[in-house]
Amino acid sequence: MDKLLVYGGTALSGAINISGSKNASLPILAAALLTDQQVVIERVPDVSDTNYMLQILSALGCEVERYSGTVKITASHIHPEAPYELVRKMRASICVMGPLVARLGRARVSIPGGCVIGDRPIDLHLKGLQAIGAHIDTEGGNILMEARDGLKGCVVDLRGKHGPTVLGTDNLMMAAVLAEGITVIESAACEPEVVDLADFLNSMGAKIEGAGSSRITIQGVTSLTGTHHTVIPDRIEAGTFMVAGAMASDNGITLKRVRKDHLVGATQKLTEAGHLVSFSECGSSVTIQRGDAPQGCEITTAPHPGFPTDMQAQFTAMFATTPGISIVEDTIFPQRFMHCAELTRMGADIKVDNGTAKIHGVKQLSAAPVMASDLRASAALVLAALSAQGMTEINRLYHIDRGYEMIDEKLLQLGAKVERTRGSA
Ligand code: EPZ
Repeated sequence: MDKLLVYGGTALSGAINISGSKNASLPILAAALLTDQQVVIERVPDVSDTNYMLQILSALGCEVERYSGTVKITASHIHPEAPYELVRKMRASICVMGPLVARLGRARVSIPGGCVIGDRPIDLHLKGLQAIGAHIDTEGGNILMEARDGLKGCVVDLRGKHGPTVLGTDNLMMAAVLAEGITVIESAACEPEVVDLADFLNSMGAKIEGAGSSRITIQGVTSLTGTHHTVIPDRIEAGTFMVAGAMASDNGITLKRVRKDHLVGATQKLTEAGHLVSFSECGSSVTIQRGDAPQGCEITTAPHPGFPTDMQAQFTAMFATTPGISIVEDTIFPQRFMHCAELTRMGADIKVDNGTAKIHGVKQLSAAPVMASDLRASAALVLAALSAQGMTEINRLYHIDRGYEMIDEKLLQLGAKVERTRGSA
C-alpha cells in the first residue's frame, strides 16, 4: 500500500493543469450503456474510480479502449448483471442501474455497502426509477429491477432529508431518456456534473431541458447514438489546489484548465478568509496567493451553488492554521469529519459536535504519521502536511488515488517536497 511522505514548509510556486472531473466522468461512462454505438469521451482522469467504472462496463460486456485521457466505449452486446466484486469497490457503480434498466428492461446491481463519510442510502434512486415504471426487488444483497412494460415518464420529486441527490438525479435522467413520454424531475440536483451528463446525453440525441436548475424535463426518445464528448474540469481538484495555494505559497500558484463559474463557493470563502484569488479574463485559469492577514470564517455546506461538501475537509485543514475561530458545518454529510482526529494529531485544535467543527487556528502544525480515511479527508491531510513542520507520513494513499490524478507529480511540479513510497497500512 502506497504512502506519501510530505516534507512541509516549502513554498509552492508555478502552474499545473487541472484534470477532467472524476464525478462528471463516472455517470458519463455509465451512460455509454445507453447506445450500441461507440462513444468517445475525452479528459477522463486516470484515477482508480474511473478504472473501477471501466472494469464494471467491461464486465457488463462493453468493449472499452483507453489511451491517455481518451476512453472509447461500445456497448453493443451487454447483459444486465453488474458483479458484486467490482460494484462493492465504489458507490458510484450504482449509476449503471438507470442505463441498464432503460436499455435492457432489466438490471441486477449489488446494493452499495457502508461508507465512511456517513449514511448513504439509495432510496431516492429507487424512488425515481420506480416512479417511471421499474419494478424493484432485492435478493441476496442485490437490487433486481425490471421494466416489463417499458418505462413511462411522469413527474418525480427527488428531494431527500439532506436536499437533492446528485447521482440519484443522474440515474433517473439516464433512465428517462429512453422512457415513453415526458419525465419531470423536481428538486433535481443542480451540480455542474449533472449538467455535463445532460450535455453528453443530449449529444447522443436525448431531449433534456433544464439541467442545472431544480426542474429537469426529459422528453423520451426511442434510441440514442454514439457521440464525442469532453468532460468538464474537476472543480474539487481545482478547489483543493486553490487551498494549497492559500496555505503554502508566497507568490501564488496558477491552475490552468478550470471553470470560474464552477468555483464560486471556494473563491468566495478563500477571499473572505483573506486570500487573493484572481481569474484570467476568460475564467479558465486562476492564481491564488496567500493573503497577508488570513482570518477564520464560517462555512456551511449546501447543494450547488452552495459551498460543496467535497471541499469541507480541505477548508477545515486550512482553518487549522488560520488565526481566529472558524466554524465548519456539513449539512449534507454530517459525519464527514474523520480528518479532524488526524489533524488534531498534527497539533490542530478542532472540536467536532453534531456535524459542526469549531476550529481555533494554531500557529503551525507539526508532522506526524497520519491515516487517510476517505478521498477528501486524505486531501485535507496532504494540505496540512504541506505547511506543517517536519515530514508527515500519509498512510492509505489509495484513498487519494481514487480521485486525484497524479497528485504527487502535480505537487512536485509546484515545488513541494513529496515522495511516494511502498508501505503497509
Ligand atoms: C455525489 O455523491 C458525489 N459523488 C459525492 O462526491 C458528493 O459528496 C455528493 O454527490 C454530494 O455533493 C459522485 O458524484 C460520484 P448525493 P452522491 O446523493 O450523489 C442523501 C467525492 O468526494 N441521499 O447527492 O452519492 C445522502 O445521504 C464524493 O468525490 C439520500 O438520502 O450524493 C446525502 O445526505 C463523495 N437518499 C445527500 O442525499 C438517496 O437515495 C446528498 O447525497 C441518495 C442520497
